Amino acid sequence: MFSFIIAVGENNEMGLNNHLPWHLPSEIGYFRKVTEYHTIIMGRKTFESLPKVLPNRRHIVLTKDKNYSYDHRDVIIANSLEEVFNIVNKDEENIIIGGAEIFRLFLPHTSRIYLTIVHRSFKADVYFFELDKNEWIETKKWEAILDKKTIIPHTYYVLDRREK
Ligand SMILES: NC(=O)c1ccc[n+]([C@@H]2O[C@H](COP(=O)([O-])OP(=O)(O)OC[C@H]3O[C@@H](n4cnc5c(N)ncnc54)[C@H](OP(=O)(O)O)[C@@H]3O)[C@@H](O)[C@H]2O)c1
Repeated sequence: MFSFIIAVGENNEMGLNNHLPWHLPSEIGYFRKVTEYHTIIMGRKTFESLPKVLPNRRHIVLTKDKNYSYDHRDVIIANSLEEVFNIVNKDEENIIIGGAEIFRLFLPHTSRIYLTIVHRSFKADVYFFELDKNEWIETKKWEAILDKKTIIPHTYYVLDRREK
């Protein structure tokens, strides 16, 4: 199966200058907890925005550039959606981590969304799209616990695709 993990601002803001628009250490911890020991799938721009290859995760990086390469045992380069389908084990949870282009590509194939809404407006140059509310059921929701390092209120949701 495929899942998304995504954080957005109040206006679906996702990114600015190839970075996240906010600094939320507790959300980074949540991201690690959800994605660790899974295959994570991302666009080339999101991959290049990571500070490093993330430990304990197999990375699949999508690019149309057939010459793109990255020498690391946990990084696989793929040139199409079909190629990703051939690499992953569909019985496991494979997690799409963005960005917007790759979320669009995988939306029809995705059955769960780990969504964080950050309760503030941000300057952004990449936005998430509106989800069709009829297609998703909210199965979990909880508020973030704030502390000295994490001061912006945010809410965590788990959405599951409604059975047809
Ligand atoms: N808030 C969040 O949860 C979150 C999560 C992830 C990222 N972000 C932010 O989002 C921004 C990046 O998102 P983005 O939408 O600009 O870029 P992206 O989705 O990360 O990457 C786009 C790239 O993916 C490749 N690609 C797209 N469609 C493809 C296809 N059909 N087949 C093969 N490769 C394909 C292309 O790479 P080539 O150009 O190499 O061909 C394209 O330029 C950054 O600001 C990042 O910080 C936010």
